[in-house]
Amino acid sequence: MPVIALPTGRSFDSCVEIIQGAGLPVGRLKDAGRNLVIDEGEYRFLMGKPSDIPTLVSQGVADLALVGSDVTEESDADLTELLDTGRGRCYMAVAGPEELARRFSGHASSLMGLRVGTKYQRTARRTFAAWGVQIRTLYLNGSVELAPALGLADCIFDIVQTGGTLRANGLAVIKRTAEVSLRLVAGFGALQLRWGSLRSVVEAVEDFVSSGGENGENAD
Ligand code: PRP
Repeated sequence: MPVIALPTGRSFDSCVEIIQGAGLPVGRLKDAGRNLVIDEGEYRFLMGKPSDIPTLVSQGVADLALVGSDVTEESDADLTELLDTGRGRCYMAVAGPEELARRFSGHASSLMGLRVGTKYQRTARRTFAAWGVQIRTLYLNGSVELAPALGLADCIFDIVQTGGTLRANGLAVIKRTAEVSLRLVAGFGALQLRWGSLRSVVEAVEDFVSSGGENGENAD
């Protein structure tokens, strides 16, 4: 039975759309409630917090998963990215009070030692390091937008979809750093041992997203 992990939260509906578009059964998925394991026909779906999905896949309890590239970038789990669905688009950004933008328009040296609140510590360090800047990160998971106002951080590094959360907290995007979309990933073991039963799923997802799909975000 192929096991597919899906992230709960913001991108869950896009995931169900992809699964449905690929022709897999989604009747019970659409009404998942708080169930974390759902069997649909010959498939099993595992619902996990986005940051747990790489572990489910790399540990071999899920064969495949849909997960945002923000999560795969941050994770050090051993995953193979099979395809970019182009769905669930968001972006990573440095955000903060408007006045901080001036520091970003000057020399990189003026950013040295910047205090950055984020749940994406590895990605934040890597992103700033590529600009020649070493930062100090403060791990916050969930209430990161509070950090600048409380004096805990100079800015935040986070995922942005509508920008509503930033605006509601008096913050603005200072630098957009990477595009984010849902990726289809697999673990090493699943590809080695069960590719025969997974291949048709991977190809069906690929066909759906490359055709633009119904209401597809890729449609020209
Ligand atoms: C993310 C992010 C922001 C929000 C941005 O949190 O951390 O809080 O979404 O979305 P917006 O630009 O549409 O306002 P998420 O919903 O992933 O969950 P979290 O609060 O548990 O981190």
